[in-house]
Amino acid sequence: MALEPRMRSLTLLVSALLALPAVAAELPENHITNIFKPLATPAESEKSIALLVFAITGFIFVGVAGLIAYTIWRYRQPSGVHQHEEPPQVYGSNQIEVAWTVLPILIVFVLIGVSARVIAAVENASPPAAALKVTIIGHQWWWEVLYPDYGIITANEIHVPATPDGKNATYLQLQSADVIHSFWLPQLSGKTDLIPNRTNFMWIDPREPGIYVGNCAEYCGTQHANMLLRVVGQDPKSFKAWTIEQQRRAVDSPNAAEGGAVFQSLACVNCHNISGLGQASSGSKFGPDLTHLMLRQTLGSGVLKNTPENLRAWVNDPQVAKPGCLMPSMKLTPDELTKVVAYLETLK
Ligand code: CUA
Repeated sequence: MALEPRMRSLTLLVSALLALPAVAAELPENHITNIFKPLATPAESEKSIALLVFAITGFIFVGVAGLIAYTIWRYRQPSGVHQHEEPPQVYGSNQIEVAWTVLPILIVFVLIGVSARVIAAVENASPPAAALKVTIIGHQWWWEVLYPDYGIITANEIHVPATPDGKNATYLQLQSADVIHSFWLPQLSGKTDLIPNRTNFMWIDPREPGIYVGNCAEYCGTQHANMLLRVVGQDPKSFKAWTIEQQRRAVDSPNAAEGGAVFQSLACVNCHNISGLGQASSGSKFGPDLTHLMLRQTLGSGVLKNTPENLRAWVNDPQVAKPGCLMPSMKLTPDELTKVVAYLETLK
């Protein structure tokens, strides 16, 4: 009897593991999370530290493991000989003591020095006046993305200019609305925490247009693992076009009036803002801004591809795709669901 719950959790674990490739396949192309393929200055300098640390620790590992293996082999008991005496015991050697005290200290200081230099270089880089500034606010379990100079509010996908010369750096102000999160895009920058009541900084200068994926890297509750993040690097022209698209208000889209009324009659507006929808929906920041929802690639901070079927399933019950997330199932009737989804699909 006692085995039953254990078997059940084992079955759950196995099915979760089997489900992983399916989830990954669900995500759009290009997702690489490899720190050894950096495509921005901060990530590149961190890669060089990582290689240095691997080299030093690898050297120590080979040295220590080699000495152990040699000692085991060299001083093994020859077969057929049964010796019960202890080997000669050596007590104290000043030279050895000094060597194994001084050498590790030197190694530690070299690692501290190299790391401190890179950290200072990344942190002290001051933004050129023209640099794009983006504020990122961590929420359980999604990312709010603000472009103060453009008046744009979006979520989970950070569009930035990307040029091969790295001249288009984006400066990020990192904040949190609730608990500690951590911003991490392995190909672009190291992990930087988002801490309540504090602003941290990071910057990225992607060298290639494309999608860079990342993750919250600090355990922040049930759906921490699904707090996914993507940076969309664009050539400056497409980035400019994107900002113009994002600055449009939702009311500009056709058929918005009727659908908007349905949306506003439901509890959705308590958490989600849609620019242009009037008083009732302005300023709510509990959930992601939906003004240009259909221009995003994913739903639920990266758990689902943004397709009409997934959108319907998500609105119907977000707890299926993201159990524990703070958006409840609104228990909409099929008719309400159809109307709300049809309205959301106009948000381009
Ligand atoms: Cu946010 Cu983990």
